[in-house]
Amino acid sequence: MFILETDRLTLRHASPDDAAFILLLLNEPSFLKFIGDRGVRTLDDARGYIANRLIDSYERHGYGLWIVERKQEPGPIGICGLVKRDALPDPDIGFAFLPEFWGAGYAYESALGVKRHALEVLRLPRLLAVTNEDNASSIRLVEKLGLEFARMIALSKDQPELRLFALEARG
Ligand SMILES: CC(C)(COP(=O)(O)OP(=O)(O)OC[C@H]1O[C@@H](n2cnc3c(N)ncnc32)[C@H](O)[C@@H]1OP(=O)(O)O)[C@@H](O)C(=O)NCCC(=O)NCCS
Repeated sequence: MFILETDRLTLRHASPDDAAFILLLLNEPSFLKFIGDRGVRTLDDARGYIANRLIDSYERHGYGLWIVERKQEPGPIGICGLVKRDALPDPDIGFAFLPEFWGAGYAYESALGVKRHALEVLRLPRLLAVTNEDNASSIRLVEKLGLEFARMIALSKDQPELRLFALEARG
């Protein structure tokens, strides 16, 4: 299902056909370092992740992490969207791209589309973001979107503290 488009990109629901891409992305060293190890090691694991994490969120909340593709050249290059965590009162914006697609502004462009969708279509009152202390490119991106640093937060007891950013909807 189509969600939104930007100048160069489209965002859509994930499907079981994205399993190979998800398997690759979730095992990228940058994903493991800055987001975490989701334990996805096989195509079957990836299909499970798509069903239980991605599609489940679309059904439960009406949003989730969506698949990002370029209009010029179809095929998944990253994920970007909204995550509802038990530990946070409002959804946070999340993104991860295959390294070969970094440095072209795709993450920012898709995240800006997601921010607009969150505020204008879903009419969410507040948008959050969480990043590792040392995830400089992600922190820069979140601040470029207009979110402001709020405080440090631990999402669970055994996890290191993360930076929490927030943006209040106007009006
Ligand atoms: C975080 C992540 C998505 C950032 O990717 P990215 O490609 O570096 O991010 P951007 O889209 O902001 O692009 C950055 C650069 O592209 C360049 N660029 C090139 N063409 C551009 C264009 N048309 N428009 C905008 N920027 C462009 C800019 O120079 C920009 O750098 P700057 O912000 O220093 O000016 C990526 O590093 C990643 O997937 N990391 C692993 C997962 C992760 O950490 N996720 C976040 C968890 S909170």
